Amino acid sequence: MAALVCVSDFERYAHEHLPKSARDYYFSGASGQQTLEENTAAFRRLRLRPRVLRDVSRVSTETTLLGRRIAFPICAAPTGIQRMAHPDGEIATAKALADLSSCMTLSWWSTTSIEDVARSAPGGVRWFQLHIDSSRETTVDLIRRAEKMGYEAIVLTVDMPMMGQRYDHIRNRFVLPRSLKFENFSKETASKFSETQSQGNPRMARRLQTMIDPTLNWDSVPWLISVTRLPIVLKGILTGKDAREAVERGVSGIWVSNHGARQLDGVPATIEVLSEIVHAVDGRAEIYLDGGIRHGTDVLKALALGARAVFVGRPILFGLAYKGADGVKQVMEILREEFRTAMALSGCTSLNDISRALVAHESYYWSKL
Ligand code: FNR
Repeated sequence: MAALVCVSDFERYAHEHLPKSARDYYFSGASGQQTLEENTAAFRRLRLRPRVLRDVSRVSTETTLLGRRIAFPICAAPTGIQRMAHPDGEIATAKALADLSSCMTLSWWSTTSIEDVARSAPGGVRWFQLHIDSSRETTVDLIRRAEKMGYEAIVLTVDMPMMGQRYDHIRNRFVLPRSLKFENFSKETASKFSETQSQGNPRMARRLQTMIDPTLNWDSVPWLISVTRLPIVLKGILTGKDAREAVERGVSGIWVSNHGARQLDGVPATIEVLSEIVHAVDGRAEIYLDGGIRHGTDVLKALALGARAVFVGRPILFGLAYKGADGVKQVMEILREEFRTAMALSGCTSLNDISRALVAHESYYWSKL
């Protein structure tokens, strides 16, 4: 087999080797998948404007996330059911990210427990992604477990008051493989879920909805802040107005995301909305971005437009499908080295050198003709 040298090589490998139902689960976007295409296409519409002759013999990719040092600004987004891609699943991801000194976000839909993930990679920087279910008590229990095990932030996913329509999941009547379990669900949530499983799709999505509280609203944010000492990050913000609402309620981070194009189809690519959000937040919270990051140059463009760090979802799953922790590490190292090279070739030696002037929309050049 030829060497895998870029994220799309790992993507091809995963596409060819995963069983159909797992492959469709990981690769799908929502509805007509317009946004899925746009998430990557929008990066290609941005051009880099490198500066030269700047002594790039030393390049540092280090930064901090909510005050915690990480070696490079590319982290793991939460993705559910990682043990379907590799038996080591979330533990493999945790080990790879800890080895590389970057941050892993563990999903609420994890097939490994909060505790087992934390114990498998001591010292790693980890965040926990949360949905608030209809029982506030079970939600608080989950937060306490994350706090106790050293997770450093709670990421509340806000773009999923109900499941997006994913045609392949419906066609395949996707259900969780029998050998796996959602290890962090409370008894109550687990029993709602097993009811769902026995129905199979197409009812599954509708039943799953009952597990996430659809009444969540802006008052839920101060409540969440009040029940934990951990910083709160809201994941799934796509407008300046919502970013402003979030900052006014005291969140520490805004995570620009369209859920890997799995929720509302027809929304913009995340990179397209980043500037609007940066202006609205005006330095009052850290801003992160995910969606369609497949190259080091994509990372550079996102940082130039104001993201503090980026997160990748599917690339982690591609790495897992290839070779567990080793595969995730290889994917992340490729992205890190591509990013470091892109920095040097643009004349940047630290993240402080990456500025808005580094990026122009393709139309800028046409307007000059
Ligand atoms: C996700 N995503 C996601 N988000 C979340 O908040 N909780 C979750 O459990 C999941 N699960 C999940 C599963 C799969 C298979 C995918 C592809 C995505 C969204 C994820 O965190 C992230 O926003 C996107 O994956 C980013 O886009 P890319 O990097 O996949 O293009």
